Amino acid sequence: MKKITEKHIEQFKTKKYIKFENVLDKKILSVAKNYYDIKFNKIKEYHVTTLSDDVVGPYNNNFYADPLSESLLYELLPFYKKLSGKDLIPTYSFARLYKKGQFLNSHIDRPACQFSLTLCIYSNLKNPWPIFIEDEGCSTSSNEAVFYKGCELNHYRNTLNEDASIVQLHLHYVDKNDDFYNKFVFDGRPGIGMPYNSVNLNERYRDYISENGEWLTKELYEKKKLQSL
Ligand SMILES: [Fe+2]
Repeated sequence: MKKITEKHIEQFKTKKYIKFENVLDKKILSVAKNYYDIKFNKIKEYHVTTLSDDVVGPYNNNFYADPLSESLLYELLPFYKKLSGKDLIPTYSFARLYKKGQFLNSHIDRPACQFSLTLCIYSNLKNPWPIFIEDEGCSTSSNEAVFYKGCELNHYRNTLNEDASIVQLHLHYVDKNDDFYNKFVFDGRPGIGMPYNSVNLNERYRDYISENGEWLTKELYEKKKLQSL
């Protein structure tokens, strides 16, 4: 894995995102490529969600808390701690299989995604299909990742017009010492590896959701708290 320099740390601090190449050790990447090929293409183990319940549309093949991506949360934890200068704790992971026609609506993430990364495991794209972070395009080939502050920076992808397959992992963390974000440790689950339905997010995080059902940002949450005093 690439060494983190003072320049990287400074860039992450000021721009709130940074791209890295060679994120996983070669052997781990090789295992991950085979594993997700089996998962998504052979046994077809994934969920299909639609735009109404996901930011990716018009449909999306994904898997919450896949055991390998959950394990990689720990694998990349020391790296992300060093890059961010924060004592991070994992929240959850997501594995996605992107195909032609899909797009990612412009959004900021829910509070469990304070420190996020999107890591490309496999891609057979011929042309770049960047994730735009605050309108700046960042393309990721296999074993490249963008580390970014998901709750602060808008991000999106335009429609993929190429007949391609892309396996992308999304790994999320929060700062252990931040009293707003640290409530989201393990995404409210009893522990890493537990499935999505092991917790009722809306119930567990009722105070962090607005009247129209949207996740509150830290700013809005604190404003609401002050008003109720
Ligand atoms: Fe996101």
